[in-house]
Amino acid sequence: MENKIQKQDVGMTSKQIEIVKTTWAMVAPLAEQVGPLFYNRLFEIAPETKSLFQRTSIPEQSNKLLAMLNCVISKLDKLETLLDEINALALRHVQYGVKADHYEKVGAALLWTLEQGLQSAWTEETKQAWITCYVLLSGTMLQAANRKLVA
Ligand code: HEM
Repeated sequence: MENKIQKQDVGMTSKQIEIVKTTWAMVAPLAEQVGPLFYNRLFEIAPETKSLFQRTSIPEQSNKLLAMLNCVISKLDKLETLLDEINALALRHVQYGVKADHYEKVGAALLWTLEQGLQSAWTEETKQAWITCYVLLSGTMLQAANRKLVA
């Protein structure tokens, strides 16, 4: 019963969590190719975000993003234990100049990158699992950012 309530809070089914974990394990070892693929795609669909990344090199930035995603994905079934970290990450993003509508573009670039990396493993079910995962994570970050903006 407890578990069920937690999963509803998290918004992902156990099947979806499993799919995200399995497919992430397939893509993460390709980090060196996947990182630049992601940023190139992001700068193509959202050129206005390019100036935000001037302080850090793309390989360095890719490593940070992969490390964070590794951490989140390994704890998807107990995301509430990461809430403080996610909230702090969200507030740092406000400082970086990230705006609410950037999240959708980053999400689109992430999905596109996963599709390239996974190829035939990118099924409709996999796509839905990742959308749910990203909406959940970015939604949590946006909530924290909005609290900061109205505070
Ligand atoms: C679920 C969504 C996201 C996650 C998990 C994520 C994760 C990260 C991580 C781990 C860092 C490393 C620095 C730190 O820990 O503070 C970072 C930095 C950064 N992120 Fe994100 N991010 C997300 C969404 C976004 C969005 C939507 C944008 C908008 C374009 C963005 C832009 C940036 C920028 C500009 C930096 C700092 C670059 C620098 O100066 O080093 N991120 N992000």
